[in-house]
Amino acid sequence: MAVRVGFIGTGLIATSHMENLAAMDGVHIAALCDVSLAAAQRAQGRFGGAIYADHREMLARERLDAVYVCIPPFAHSGQELDVLEAGAALFVEKPVTLDLELGRRIALEIERRQAVACCGYHWRYADTTQRLRELLDKEAVIQVLGRWLGGIWMAPWWKSKELSGGQLVEQVTHLFDLARYLVGEIDLVTAFATRGHVKDIEGYTLDDASVVNVRFAQGAVGNFAATCLLSRGLGAELTVIARDFAATCTTNQLRVVEPERTVEYPARAAALRLEDEAFIEAVRSGDCSKLLSPYGDALQTVAVTLAAEASLGQGGQLHRVGRWDFAPA
Ligand SMILES: NC(=O)c1ccc[n+]([C@@H]2O[C@H](COP(=O)([O-])OP(=O)(O)OC[C@H]3O[C@@H](n4cnc5c(N)ncnc54)[C@H](O)[C@@H]3O)[C@@H](O)[C@H]2O)c1
Repeated sequence: MAVRVGFIGTGLIATSHMENLAAMDGVHIAALCDVSLAAAQRAQGRFGGAIYADHREMLARERLDAVYVCIPPFAHSGQELDVLEAGAALFVEKPVTLDLELGRRIALEIERRQAVACCGYHWRYADTTQRLRELLDKEAVIQVLGRWLGGIWMAPWWKSKELSGGQLVEQVTHLFDLARYLVGEIDLVTAFATRGHVKDIEGYTLDDASVVNVRFAQGAVGNFAATCLLSRGLGAELTVIARDFAATCTTNQLRVVEPERTVEYPARAAALRLEDEAFIEAVRSGDCSKLLSPYGDALQTVAVTLAAEASLGQGGQLHRVGRWDFAPA
């Protein structure tokens, strides 16, 4: 039987997931919920599915095996709990929430139900990331450098820090998450930002550029730098340094520099597709072992980025990152 999938939020990233699902055998995009009828109709025109304005009505009327939650950061109000209550598997795009307490309730509910659930940190699924994880088995990481040097993302809510959470929380979150996946927990954070250079875009309340220094629990130090001022961006990458070993990854390439050689590994497949395939496979089998971004773990990445936001709001005050990823007793 086909896996019946529903969407809450049918905008930009939802469309990318739908493209992947539509290319898979035995997957049916059955239902689309969006508060914007135009967005839902656009998706329906390409992928089919019944349209709803209210996710509760969608969950009540449709028999869904899995639901993707692809709404903006500010819009999470517990839709995930409703999906779990309906008995469907849950996919939540990053950042999974701006409210850590709500996130903890969702993580506990996933745990209680032993539900199939995962989050949209797709960099983890790149074969290049997996290759780097293997290489780092033999290395003690000493330093991590993340760079996200881009422009203002096109979604209308993105330029408002109140709605998106800001560039660190909404976007650079991928690099913080990848760093955690490769190196381990971040326990200390301090950050600075500058703003006020964008006066021509209405509703823009973001920092123009920011830098975050972190310490990993295993002792490594890290720095993450971001800007959204570049309409022609320089891209996003993470560099990991060990003794006589440096590796830089983007979503489509890994470059490893050692004393005797430099090796470049191009990614063999789009990480977002690998993520969707792993999720659908888990929905079919009930086996979550190939899901690389569990909800509680994704929540811990939110905690790191919210600590960075808090620090830059307080002129660089040092923040110890609390733990939000533990399983309940
Ligand atoms: N994994 C990635 O690389 C990646 C890339 C882009 C976006 N995202 C994430 O995906 C999420 C959505 O981003 P986007 O770029 O698709 O935004 P978008 O604005 O294009 O789409 C979001 C859609 O959600 C709808 N929506 C808002 N509140 C809703 C609600 N309560 N119920 C139903 N629909 C609702 C909006 O009308 C909109 O159509 C964000 O959290 C973003 O960070 C992830």
